[in-house]
Amino acid sequence: MKESSLSKKIQAIRGMNDLLPAQAPLWQYFEQQVRTLMGRYGYDEIRTPILEQTALFKRSIGEVTDIVEKEMYTFEDRNGDSLTLRPEGTASCVRAAMENGLLHNQTQRLWYQGPMFRHERPQKGRYRQFHQVGVETFGLEGPDIDAEVILLSARLWKQLGLFEHVTLELNSLGSPEARAAYRDKLVSYFEAHLDVLDEDSRRRLSTNPLRILDSKNPAMADMLADAPRLMDHLDAESREHFERLTAILDAAGIEYVINPRLVRGLDYYSRTVFEWTTEALGSQGTVCAGGRYDGLVEQLGGKPVPAVGFAMGIERLILLLETLELVPDAVHDTLDVYLLPMGEAAEAAALELAERLRDDLPALRLQLHCGGGGFKSRIRKADKSGARLALLLGEEELAENAVTLKFLREEREQRRLSRSELAPALADLLSEA
Ligand code: HAM
Repeated sequence: MKESSLSKKIQAIRGMNDLLPAQAPLWQYFEQQVRTLMGRYGYDEIRTPILEQTALFKRSIGEVTDIVEKEMYTFEDRNGDSLTLRPEGTASCVRAAMENGLLHNQTQRLWYQGPMFRHERPQKGRYRQFHQVGVETFGLEGPDIDAEVILLSARLWKQLGLFEHVTLELNSLGSPEARAAYRDKLVSYFEAHLDVLDEDSRRRLSTNPLRILDSKNPAMADMLADAPRLMDHLDAESREHFERLTAILDAAGIEYVINPRLVRGLDYYSRTVFEWTTEALGSQGTVCAGGRYDGLVEQLGGKPVPAVGFAMGIERLILLLETLELVPDAVHDTLDVYLLPMGEAAEAAALELAERLRDDLPALRLQLHCGGGGFKSRIRKADKSGARLALLLGEEELAENAVTLKFLREEREQRRLSRSELAPALADLLSEA
């Protein structure tokens, strides 16, 4: 290897981001809101591996989808097996539930969170490693559970202050049979308008014609607006399911827009599909999306089990909170105390004191100054730490078995406290904040 390439700095992979300490508190706030909410609805967490056999995603998401055709991180491992970094969570969740007997004569309400991987063109709100929170429910076929997962997401938007800024779009894809009949009608319609179809859509005509409806090409907009609607070709049961779902949402006061062109980019859906979208993020405006996938468990080799779920993109929701300035101040936890030993003897004693204070005051956030330095630089570090209080431990304090308490952010007299006074005094000050 040449020296120049050896010394070249290694950078992160395009579209894969570091989460820096300054951003972590907002993620923790979001994750905490999610975790509590899932508990309130009786959903149990599941964690699955990030790698799965490639066949799992091909068989569930569908061979002729963008994800499987162009976006998966697929490679051979050392045994020659084809593995794929998960591009989404539903397939893994179904695999895990089947494999571990969670679907046998039982219902499940599961949730997960974690990184997903898609080789898309990175831009604002679209990354190659991104993070989802998802829920998947199994064994429930009525529209009540479709409504529940929608209401659960709506409650999260309310908790985060986002509810006014998102729109619920709904559609029904009907049964596979109804969809197949509709597909034939749609293909005939598109064939009569071949001159308007762009190249991508022509390619999709034979593989995935429903996805043409999703096209954003303005040259095709008029033609698409007049295309036959799946809503008008639903089977009777799917129609009833959809009507009952919208009735529940109406009663719950959740507004929605019926979007007959909402088809989703994954093949496993049937009946209800939905997306929560926002105008505030530009082109990557879908913050949460999902639907019913009653055929997937059977398709992966199990007995038929009805299922419905969704996933939300954490990066997009974080961006949205920042864009709309909805980040609560309290998100940024600051230190309470910066403990500053002065001199070698004090350094050893300070370590011990820090541990004792953490024993006595479990809520205390205390950072111990390490690494020596001159007096001024130590004080600067104490200030930079963001802590409200500094505790000074020098030779004098050591001799007196005391500490000096200094207020870093308030105009208040510093105090000398004996060791026995210290913990109660800190407890008082913490309850003040
Ligand atoms: P999806 O529509 O592919 O559905 O993704 C769900 C959400 O993940 C999107 O609405 C978006 O917020 C986020 N997302 C997707 N791709 C990216 C990306 N490249 N960068 C940032 N965020 C992204 C699914 O994944 C289904 N598994 C949802 C589901 C669960 N359906 C039923 N159960």
